[in-house]
Amino acid sequence: MKILVAYGTTEGQTRKVARFVADRLVDAGHAVELLDANDAEGLDVGRFGAAVLAGSIHGGRYQPALVDFARGSAQALSARPGLFLSVSLSAAGDDAGEWEGIRAIADEFAQETGWRPGRVEHVAGAFRFGEYDYFKAWMMRRIAREKGETVDPEGDTEYTDWAALGAAVDDWAGALT
Ligand SMILES: Cc1cc2nc3c(=O)[nH]c(=O)nc-3n(C[C@H](O)[C@H](O)[C@H](O)COP(=O)(O)O)c2cc1C
Repeated sequence: MKILVAYGTTEGQTRKVARFVADRLVDAGHAVELLDANDAEGLDVGRFGAAVLAGSIHGGRYQPALVDFARGSAQALSARPGLFLSVSLSAAGDDAGEWEGIRAIADEFAQETGWRPGRVEHVAGAFRFGEYDYFKAWMMRRIAREKGETVDPEGDTEYTDWAALGAAVDDWAGALT
């Protein structure tokens, strides 16, 4: 099947997630178009049998380009099997309140865009200190300290569970006809 994998990213972890998903789907025999949501203008979703959208949470929201794409193509996206991957640091932990928060943010995304993905997966992201400006680095160091996490203050500390993500993608893709 021809599958669209479209993503929004701010520091790059969701691009890595989307590439992993695209490779996984190709290995399963699908044809995949991998696309940054910033380049999705004019894309005809009708060309695809199914779609995966991935975005990361920053201050309670996903990337505006991803929101715009999902809203603009909501009808076509909802008419085919869809998987939404929500990348966040809250998904790396087991704090019930934080999980409630990220589930609410994903629900709000569905409300705001009108796209009803058949399946939503929350994916743990990463600290990427190499990508932060001074203020973000200060804020993220503070968040890491509050969470009791030891992070690389210059580089990446990744929490993404690639095996779990691969299993979820296999499960979703296995149900495609
Ligand atoms: C400024 C900023 C705000 C963030 N806000 C949230 C948030 O509200 N909730 C959350 O769980 N994670 C939050 N994160 C963590 C990101 O979702 C996480 O780092 C993710 O891996 C980023 O993905 P990306 O590299 O594709 O942009 C935030 C990160 C930054 C830098």
